[in-house]
Amino acid sequence: MSRRAIDLREVVIGDRLAGVSRIVGVTGSKGGIGKSVVASTLALKLADRGVGVGLFDLDFTSPSDHVVLGVDRSFPDEEFGIDPHRVHGIDMMSVAFFAGDAPVPMRGDAATSALLELLAITRWGSLDVLVLDMPPGLGDTNLDVIRLLPRLEFLLVGNGSRVVIESVRRALRLFTELDVPMVGVLENMRRRDGDTVAGLATEFSVPFLGSISYDDSLEEALGDVDQLRSTEIYRSLPADQLALA
Ligand SMILES: Nc1ncnc2c1ncn2[C@@H]1O[C@H](COP(=O)(O)OP(=O)(O)O)[C@@H](O)[C@H]1O
Ligand SMILES: [Mg+2]
Repeated sequence: MSRRAIDLREVVIGDRLAGVSRIVGVTGSKGGIGKSVVASTLALKLADRGVGVGLFDLDFTSPSDHVVLGVDRSFPDEEFGIDPHRVHGIDMMSVAFFAGDAPVPMRGDAATSALLELLAITRWGSLDVLVLDMPPGLGDTNLDVIRLLPRLEFLLVGNGSRVVIESVRRALRLFTELDVPMVGVLENMRRRDGDTVAGLATEFSVPFLGSISYDDSLEEALGDVDQLRSTEIYRSLPADQLALA
């Protein structure tokens, strides 16, 4: 018998996600690689195509999806749980809606508890795809979603820089060992010809989802969905792989 106490929140998570067809975590082994931009813009592109999409910002200490999509941080409505905000056709949840500008320092236990709490209370309803914007690295939240969400698939964001490629390989090795299904590997911020993460995708037999170039117009477009729609990032995102829910 397991000596671990049962957390009742774990029991209700399955019910809360029962109407969600696919759960896709946008992850990456490093910070600053574009996970939040990719997760937010992908959710926008899917919503624009009529796909029922949710976006859940799980970077508790540095939430950014509301910045990318230009969303007000008002408190969500409550009724037998918390309703995600409906923004630009996306159902969206973020700790930023609760914390405002306050810093959110968190040790491992607190991050696990925040994840459990939000998964247990959020009413996602019926969705084709729920996109999770993951914090960087192979730490608590990434390991917790693998444990708590048996239907999770990962979309791994990387790039061909030598300071990134090793950590992408490490992440792929771990996800392979843990049997996490992979939507594929996406290269972001490509600046030049040469090595790409495509080789790593082949090495680990996971789909390569293409390359997104470094886009100078992105900074100006953050927070304005009309401008986001005209970026290279929006155009290059592999929405088709996820639209087939
Ligand atoms: N393709 C791109 N071209 C130019 N800038 C990008 C691109 N993708 C992301 N960025 C920028 O890089 C920074 C980090 O992006 P972010 O999505 O916050 O990364 P992460 O979530 O992986 O930490 C942000 O300033 C973002 O605007
Ligand atoms: Mg991020």
